[in-house]
Parts: sequence; C-alpha cells; structure tokens
Amino acid sequence: MPQILDGNRVRDEIKSELNPRVAALSAKGRPPGLAVVLVGHNPASEIYVRNKIKACQDLGIFSESIAPPDSITTEELLATVEQLNARPDIDGILVQLPLPKQVDTKRILLAVAPQKDVDGFHPCNVGNLVAGLPGPRACTPAGIIELLKRYRIPIAGKRAVVVGRSDIVGKPVAMLLLHEHATVTICHSKTPDLAAVCREADILVAAIGRAAMITREFIRPGAVVIDVGTNRVDDRQEAARIFRNSEERLAAFDKRGNVLVGDVNPADVAELASFYTPVPGGVGPLTIAMLMVNTVAAAERRAGLC
Ligand code: GUN
Repeated sequence: MPQILDGNRVRDEIKSELNPRVAALSAKGRPPGLAVVLVGHNPASEIYVRNKIKACQDLGIFSESIAPPDSITTEELLATVEQLNARPDIDGILVQLPLPKQVDTKRILLAVAPQKDVDGFHPCNVGNLVAGLPGPRACTPAGIIELLKRYRIPIAGKRAVVVGRSDIVGKPVAMLLLHEHATVTICHSKTPDLAAVCREADILVAAIGRAAMITREFIRPGAVVIDVGTNRVDDRQEAARIFRNSEERLAAFDKRGNVLVGDVNPADVAELASFYTPVPGGVGPLTIAMLMVNTVAAAERRAGLC
C-alpha cells in the first residue's frame, strides 16, 4: 500500500515548532512582520495570499497586505518595495507572482532587500542556494525537502527527476535535491521521451502546471512522487476521466462546479508509488509553512537572535 505524504500534518508540526520562536521575538520587542504585495485580481493568487495571511494570524506574526491595482507600473511597484525595505516593523516582503505583463518582474525581485526576501527569489539568495551558503530558500522547494526528511525518505544516492524548470520550483528543488546528494535530472517541454526519463526516477517531482499529465507510464513502481501542481478542472468529462468516475470526487465536483487536480494522475499514482503527495493536502500546506519559517528566521537575524 502506498503511503500518503500528509502535508497538513507536517505543516502543523512546523507551526508548533515556530510558536516558541515567535513568542521569544515578541518578548524581545515585537512579533515578526510580513508584507504581502498582491497586484490586481488573479483569483488563484488571491486564494494563496489569503492563506498566507491566515497562517500569519494563526502564529501571531504581524502581516500587512498591500493590493495595488492591475495597472501599476514597474516604477510605482519599485517605490512600494523600497518603502517596505525601509520599514523597521517588516522583516519579510513577498511580492506574489505572476505580476501583470507591463511590470518588469526581474527588476521588482531585484529590488527586494535580500535580507527581507522570504521567497528566496532575489539573485543573491539564488546564488546562496547554488553555493550552499545560508539564506532563505524558495518555499515550495524547501517544503518538498522538509516533507521527504520528516518522512525519513532517503535522498542521498537516489535518482531524482524534476519535471518543470521554473525559477520558483523546478530549478531550486533540483539544486536542493543535488545538495542532498541525489542524482538529478531536470526535464521540460523539449525533453525527448519524457515518460522514459521519468520512469528512471526513485523520486519524481512534477511541477509542470498541467492537470494529470503524469500518468502510469511516467511512474516507476515504488517511486516517491511529489506533485506540485494545483490545476482547477472545470470540465466534468475531464474530471470524470482523471478520477476514473470516482463517485466521491465527482460529488465534490458537482458541489463546486470544479475540482483541484495535481500534475499527476491521482488514480495511477495511488496504484504505483511507494509514497506520494495528494492534491490538495500535500505540497501546498508546506509552501506556506516554509514562508512562515523564512519570515521568523529573517526576524531572528534582524533581532540578533541567530
Ligand atoms: N506564485 C506562485 N508561487 C509563489 C511563491 O512561492 N511566491 C510568490 N511570491 N509567488 C508565487
């Protein structure tokens, strides 16, 4: 029987470890502070940001959300980031991606003070990651490693295949797996015979953003499968095919008119994997937990506690 990697359980564990650290910072003067910048009205981003703010509230972390309009210019957003860089009560700054197309994302990420960069997206922190130096790590990749470690899944010497080469997940998770001594392959849309490469994986990380694309012919029996995708499917026929007419999942679809599906086919992975992350409830909760870890660590460094 495959074992489900329960992101909610690990998230709760991480949060309970953070409680005393937040209390120590508060006792020393003030709680950690996180600013979240959400430009415009992307529905998926709105849900992510709401969950990030809620996690702060649960932990007693001060949070402020800033919501500029979709029409904001690069210069205006740079000014917002500069103001947050200068704020003594703000330890972490997160600019939710994607940004509208008129905004130069690379300039915005470069403007966030590296010591307040709780996303680990600043080129300085990307360099720290590659060099194996301390610094904030991107939250989803860090969460994946945390999940593997807390379930005592060995990484050293294993063959890891990452599908997707984004700056947010694919590239950094490959680097973290490499630091844990896995043999790592990064695949993408131009990789020939993707299924054959994926079948070599002891640890398969799917971060492509395409609903249920990883089917049985991509999964080696006994593999550990990490599904980073969160795709909303609103076509009932497609949902029925993906969930092989599972009454439970289709009842959920009928209630909401859509359903969340990862990048991995849920029925195939449940049959073949040794361990796998469900969607929802796998990687997602870990991303937010690691954002909290990065925010507390940034506050501790500023307070001289570490
Ligand atoms: N958009 C999707 N994932 C992320 C993330 O981890 N951080 C930010 N800032 N934006 C995102």
